[in-house]
Amino acid sequence: MTGEDPTTADATQVVAIDGPAGTGKSSVSRLLADEIGAQYLDTGAMYRAASLAVLRAGLAPDDEDAVANLVSGLTIDLRDRDGDTVVLLDDEDVSTAIRAADVTAAVSAVAANAAVREQMVRLQQEVAQGRFVVVEGRDIGTVVFPDAELKVFLTATPEARALRRHRQNLANGTESDLDEVLASVNRRDHLDSTRAVSPLRRAEDALEFDTSDLTLAQVLAALTEMVQQRIGVQR
Ligand code: CDP
Repeated sequence: MTGEDPTTADATQVVAIDGPAGTGKSSVSRLLADEIGAQYLDTGAMYRAASLAVLRAGLAPDDEDAVANLVSGLTIDLRDRDGDTVVLLDDEDVSTAIRAADVTAAVSAVAANAAVREQMVRLQQEVAQGRFVVVEGRDIGTVVFPDAELKVFLTATPEARALRRHRQNLANGTESDLDEVLASVNRRDHLDSTRAVSPLRRAEDALEFDTSDLTLAQVLAALTEMVQQRIGVQR
């Protein structure tokens, strides 16, 4: 159609990538966005920023009313800096702080809070408005963008996912015990998939893709192909 404002909802094109921890979602979503000329949106980083604020305020992550009240007053923003996502919490760069183990341990409880989810989902929809985006999370294909042009649900065995996370920790110079990582991955999966609001699950029309035995390059190639078939690549 001609004469249409490109910033209207019609111009929004979404590739939704959901799945549990350690499936390679973040790495592949970032590379895919670069490959197809889209913007990358890490929705987990938003829940992590909210959780960091909760911990700093000394609140219990499962104190529903107090957490909802605190989070409603926060400004969380994601910026792109040279292909990396910078997370701002009330204008402070918390990109590193949100990856700390205590934040990881608290985030699933904060993310189960209905009021927090409502606020984050609204923010995610606003950020994507009028853009071509690769959005990564747990409920993107089911709740945030149910009309996404392409939905992918990444899976892998818990062991493969824990091993990836363990290697990532070691590469980052973080102490890591494989058994503990596996327990943490299983615990988060359980909380994320059994919560009442927007649980982690595959959208009916999502393509499920098991990454257990694949390299990052192989997953990227497969996803790029899916985008080409569904949407057509922009460059
Ligand atoms: O990267 P990793 O798999 O460790 O997790 P993340 O994407 O940073 O997300 C951290 C947590 O945020 C998840 O375990 C979920 O509890 C929550 N989350 C969510 O509930 N909904 C989303 N769309 C994204 C994350």
